Amino acid sequence: MSIVIAVDGPAASGKGTLARRLAAELGYAYLDTGLLYRAVGVEILRVAADPADEAIAADIAREFCISEMNFADPALRNETSGHVAAVVATHANVRAALVGLQREFARNPPGSAPGAVLDGRDIGTIICPGADYKFFVDAAIEVRAGRRAKELREKGDPSIYSRVLHDMKERDLRDRTRKIAPLAPAADASVIDTTNLSADAAFALAMSLIK
Ligand code: CDP
Repeated sequence: MSIVIAVDGPAASGKGTLARRLAAELGYAYLDTGLLYRAVGVEILRVAADPADEAIAADIAREFCISEMNFADPALRNETSGHVAAVVATHANVRAALVGLQREFARNPPGSAPGAVLDGRDIGTIICPGADYKFFVDAAIEVRAGRRAKELREKGDPSIYSRVLHDMKERDLRDRTRKIAPLAPAADASVIDTTNLSADAAFALAMSLIK
């Protein structure tokens, strides 16, 4: 049985950084589940469909196979795909189409890794409720928006803090209030608040909880 670590949290909380470092340290496979929803969003835009169209979005999601996906596609990392992802992620049939492949990744991590780290919004609550370790990474929204604006500027995207903050509030609200799999800490998750915590300190804290 593989060891499963669930890392959930809102945008730019530091969950991806923490999850990647835990996977590298422990030699586990890593899956950024947000990229699955982003990929549905990117494809919806490519075929010029409406992100609100659940049937088309679910058809796209049903075609996915993790080993064949190009997670390096820069289109998956921009703010537009994040927003469209949050819209398609509200559709029950899209989420249902993506449950199986996430659970399979956790159960049988690629490369025969002894464990898997999955990051997202509903890993500890819905996808892997029996995960061995669960973290919920959070931070004040102003700090998260500042991080995301910096990240975008470093990629050459001229982002204005006030717009990033506004968009992030909207996406947070959508993620926390949707009917299916809303963003929330699992009852048995360890909450890590990175508002005043460096990436190194968050990693050290998580490792100490694992040991
Ligand atoms: O990188 P960032 O935290 O901004 O976003 P992401 O993790 O790539 O997720 C993009 C969107 O996909 C989120 O706002 C959620 O609406 C959705 N998502 C989800 O519903 N469930 C997941 N397990 C992961 C992402």
